[in-house]
Amino acid sequence: MSRQHLYLFGRFRLNKNQRTLFYGETLVHLESMAVDVLLALLARKGNVMNKEEMALEIWRQDLVEDATIHTQIRKIRTALEAHDETRYIENHAKRGYSFLDSSRWTGMVKEEWQETGTPGSGSAEKQILLLPPAPDLFIGREQDLDALKGCLGITLDGRIPATAQPVVVVRGPPGVGKSSVAAALAHHPETREAFRGGVLWVSLGQEPKLQNILASWGRELGTDELLKSKTLTESTESLKKLLGEKRFLLIVDDVWETAHAEAFKKARGSECVLLFTTRVTTVATEIAPRHLYPEGIYLLPDLSEETALELLARLAPRAVTKYEQESRELVRDLQFLPLALLVAGRTLDAEEKLGVGWSVRQMLVALRTGAEIIRQTAPANMTDLENETTPTVAALLRMSTDRLDQSTRDCFAALGAFRSTPATFDLRVLTKFWKMKDPMPVVRALVGHGLLEPVRTGEFQMHALLRALARSMLK
Ligand SMILES: Nc1ncnc2c1ncn2[C@@H]1O[C@H](COP(=O)(O)OP(=O)(O)OP(=O)(O)O)[C@@H](O)[C@H]1O
Ligand SMILES: [Mg+2]
Repeated sequence: MSRQHLYLFGRFRLNKNQRTLFYGETLVHLESMAVDVLLALLARKGNVMNKEEMALEIWRQDLVEDATIHTQIRKIRTALEAHDETRYIENHAKRGYSFLDSSRWTGMVKEEWQETGTPGSGSAEKQILLLPPAPDLFIGREQDLDALKGCLGITLDGRIPATAQPVVVVRGPPGVGKSSVAAALAHHPETREAFRGGVLWVSLGQEPKLQNILASWGRELGTDELLKSKTLTESTESLKKLLGEKRFLLIVDDVWETAHAEAFKKARGSECVLLFTTRVTTVATEIAPRHLYPEGIYLLPDLSEETALELLARLAPRAVTKYEQESRELVRDLQFLPLALLVAGRTLDAEEKLGVGWSVRQMLVALRTGAEIIRQTAPANMTDLENETTPTVAALLRMSTDRLDQSTRDCFAALGAFRSTPATFDLRVLTKFWKMKDPMPVVRALVGHGLLEPVRTGEFQMHALLRALARSMLK
């Protein structure tokens, strides 16, 4: 059970671990970025935080427009002023901002550490949270978060909406942001409110040790009893008992096999909601409750063009400002996939910092095929924790192709030869290309593994980065 780091000011309580703000018993809604700003100001204990420090610490950039910072400050002020007229945040002309005056810090603002509990909820019941960190950089996705909140039954008034389901599956291609969206949801203050019991998280991967995972959840729930279980069935039964009628959100990220999900479905308490994420389409359809299919499955779309460009600009601000058109073409070619944008942004920024002017433009062109991207290591937050290694992007993608049989894998690789963007095929083209009478079994296998996506009747699309992988397999 963890210690909670709280900031108390007036009747407000900001919980740094949970990133929730309460005014007395009332949850105060504040977007994630505004919470970051508030926490950074509070950590300064009344001292001025200048704009360069804010840019670096909060946005992780050298420079951020004044207007961007001011928007977040305004959001915080509006949220606080709705309850209390105290001027908590001060402007210091041309310098920056501070949280109250330092001389009043001790009286008005306090920092405290408490054992796990729900601040401001007033209940003695402890909220249990087993979570990965909230994503550092997470943009766009408001619509997806709202839609998913509807599926999970999260509302501020506590009423369960008609869209709510006990089991929800998020699926989508590798690197589209399934784990990030699930983590953002898990950290959302409204989620904390809706699931008073708490949130339990696990990322399964290809070979999960299910009994150990259930035992670790059991430990979070206050008992080591599950360590003694002899069988998986025994473990699921014990966990179900522990969850009882408590309201928990259970997040099972990165599922590769339907059988792995079964244990969690069996262990789900009557008031719990289960959220699965997977890149394997057949697994998604098998896990989602039949009567709810396809509503039980949320296909996470690519980012919008503008959000994708914004993401690239956050990572490589100078390169994107200088070569706006080329950057736009790059995000289009990468089909707005967060993973690809992250690696591309990082590469561009490094190139820019080398200071060889023309090489940035060359790199912008080189990145467009995706070949340059799949060679690189994946972002640090995709590190394989068990082996403590960060795979290359190609290795991350190959986790999907490695599951194909040899001849299907060859068919997949062959599609790398197509040059059109986006890579879209109809059955006629595939019949000719694979030189087979009936391409459907192969198509079915590729769709099932999440490597092809049906877009319109008879047409299938391959994501840009997967096409780059296919091309690399051809060589
Ligand atoms: N909305 C976003 N804003 C900024 N970065 C994002 C966003 N979504 C995803 N990312 C980043 O893109 C990378 C891939 O995201 P994530 O790991 O969530 O993908 P995934 O769909 O779970 O992939 P996989 O199929 O491999 O599990 C991560 O480094 C993540 O931080
Ligand atoms: Mg993931």
